[in-house]
Amino acid sequence: MKFKSAKFYDLYAKPQIYAANALIQSLKDYRQNFKDIYEIGAGSGVLTRLIIDNLSYENLILNDLYESEFMSKFRTQIGDISNLQIQNRQDLIISSSVFQWINALENLANRLKFSLKSGGILAFSIFIDGTLRELSSFTNQGLEYKNLAQLKAIFGKKFEILTIKEQEIKLKFSNLKELLTHLKHTGVNNIKGEFKLTKSSYKALNSHFNDDFSLSYKFAILILKN
Ligand SMILES: C[S@@+](CC[C@H](N)C(=O)[O-])C[C@H]1O[C@@H](n2cnc3c(N)ncnc32)[C@H](O)[C@@H]1O
Repeated sequence: MKFKSAKFYDLYAKPQIYAANALIQSLKDYRQNFKDIYEIGAGSGVLTRLIIDNLSYENLILNDLYESEFMSKFRTQIGDISNLQIQNRQDLIISSSVFQWINALENLANRLKFSLKSGGILAFSIFIDGTLRELSSFTNQGLEYKNLAQLKAIFGKKFEILTIKEQEIKLKFSNLKELLTHLKHTGVNNIKGEFKLTKSSYKALNSHFNDDFSLSYKFAILILKN
């Protein structure tokens, strides 16, 4: 999935905008001043803008698989966070709506721990089990979202958990076309590999929704201390 092509992301990404705001608000309950901040999966800058407006810092580095136009104005480190070596120890590593794409979360948790200063914070939002469940019951091939208990087990072993909580939002659409446009522009779907809608599968999907064109997004917020 190339998010780079999700041109209208900021217009359609309501759940991601909601998750990023919830993340920043939760983080601010603990700490607002940092020296070095590293953001994973910055994309079009939904979370970055909130970091700039709400936190104080000296250095900010943005990571993503691809460099977006927004990111070009910042210091960046481009590449898959699962393989990258983060330079210098950070005071805050932060990420919103990215970790659901990372299969080896346990491995990532280990690596991030060593990229944080002692007392440093790892703060992230992640879409969890229950997200886009309206679609997975149709396709039977959802992304393997984690649940809160699994996240607690993975991250609780390595960090002190300051906050762990879940929230859900439901988006309503007038028809299937609107719903599919939303999915296309956010670059989010829970379908593995290629899923091309034929005329008959479009019809089947239409009746699957049974005139209730809504999608659920469930996300977790974790604020962790090293
Ligand atoms: C749903 S967007 C979220 C963008 C932004 N953080 C926000 O809150 O709206 C997910 C972003 O994560 C990036 N991404 C996905 N897997 C990644 C990985 N393994 N390493 C770095 N970035 C990744 C994608 O390229 C994309 O820009």
